[in-house]
Amino acid sequence: MAQTATSKQVGSATLTLGDKTATLPLLGGTMGPPVADIRKIQGDLGIFTFDPSFGATASCESSITYIDGDEGILLYRGYPIEQLAEHSTFLEVAYLLLYGELPNEEKLKSFTSGVTLHTMLHEQIRRFWDGFRRDAHPMAMLCSVVGAMSAFYPDSIDINDPRQREISAYRMIAKIPTITAWAHKYNVGQPFMYPRNDLSYSENFLYMFHAVPPQTYVPNPILTRAMDRIFILHADHEQNASTSTVRLAGSTGANPFACIAAGIASLWGPAHGGANEAVLKMLAEIGHKDNIPAFIAQVKDKNSHVKLMGFGHRVYKNFDPRAKIMQKTCYEVLGELGIKNDPMLDLAIELEKIALEDPYFVERKLYPNVDFYSGIILKAMGFPTTMFTPIFALARTVGWISQWMEMIEDPQQRIGRPRQIYTGAVTRDYVPVDKRS
Ligand code: SDX
Repeated sequence: MAQTATSKQVGSATLTLGDKTATLPLLGGTMGPPVADIRKIQGDLGIFTFDPSFGATASCESSITYIDGDEGILLYRGYPIEQLAEHSTFLEVAYLLLYGELPNEEKLKSFTSGVTLHTMLHEQIRRFWDGFRRDAHPMAMLCSVVGAMSAFYPDSIDINDPRQREISAYRMIAKIPTITAWAHKYNVGQPFMYPRNDLSYSENFLYMFHAVPPQTYVPNPILTRAMDRIFILHADHEQNASTSTVRLAGSTGANPFACIAAGIASLWGPAHGGANEAVLKMLAEIGHKDNIPAFIAQVKDKNSHVKLMGFGHRVYKNFDPRAKIMQKTCYEVLGELGIKNDPMLDLAIELEKIALEDPYFVERKLYPNVDFYSGIILKAMGFPTTMFTPIFALARTVGWISQWMEMIEDPQQRIGRPRQIYTGAVTRDYVPVDKRS
């Protein structure tokens, strides 16, 4: 892994409780606001801090991804997402996230070859699919198959061996496209297509997903470029819910495949990676732009529990830079595919316009996020809605495994163990059943 800077003390804060005072060191990184180090607060003041969804709590030091939610900035190892989406490839970004620097030609070639030569699955893994119903959600299949991988690759699960950690990273990045494509093939009752070593990473995924044995498959450069850019946009995103899940699972010493399976499970939720599938369902339910005002009214009615899917973010309180690139890619892909006026896109653009002018959303700083447009592109590229979140998981696997590796190598890393405010019954004695009311 890349040698990275560590935080430095840039000041201190004091917290006084009665006659006790705690001095909290302020730690500063290379970018972003300083954080108060509260690790000694229980010893000094006998209290914990309370931050139920960790929105104001740094769980680790990391040098992988930087987000500025107010400025709409997203950097992978210091490189702006806009530049990587324009000039890079997903495998080059994967190398950058894993190792911290853009590879030279020789390193990129070796990394690409290493990933390409690990795309096949152990033949016994194919039999997992026989146990699923044909209509199983592909995310259920991804969770199961990835979670079982440690049983098939026991030679790369010793987390204390750097070489085994690297091998498991290659295996995860290489095999997740095969697993994702095969989940779809199982859903549609078509034969599994084995990976091809003559294709690029994104070409290979599209081949395994779309190709059928009787038909010669010719990669489409437009779809390949769009797929690669979508993978880049979804590759990593700091300490989001699924990445934090991977880190917490990894902090116990669980093997990397089990940790990635935990991340897949966490990403599945509609508030997180499941939002892209939920956006398409929402657009289908709205149906026509004449129905937008009634839908917006429903969203504003808290009792409806209806959310404007694809809008809002825990960190971005301005635009999500990925959404802007996704919208641009949407126009490119639809245009290049000859799709003149896609009703879903027209509806999405009208919905975004109305929402961005509505005080309810403006006051709450709700803007389109990465999921708002991704579903429209994926649908135009021929993916069923159930495959949208698995494609997100495929891309985020490189972020998860990079964050997992950074966590394992972090000398400050200990088992994750949040505390609580207990609000249950105070101590009381057991009552025999014949004495209870
Ligand atoms: C991802 O963390 C990451 O980095 C995640 C991600 C990644 O790359 O890993 O970026 C990927 O998960 C993107 C988010 C995808 N989810 C959705 O599109 C689902 C819809 N969005 C919401 O569920 C919501 O915006 C969240 C979950 C994303 C954020 O939830 P928060 O932090 O609770 O939102 P908030 O604090 O900014 O909410 C402020 C107000 C609240 O109302 P009030 O109590 O102030 O009246 O805005 C409301 C919220 O109820 N609100 C919404 C809304 N999102 C927030 N109201 C309607 N529609 C929405 N989408």
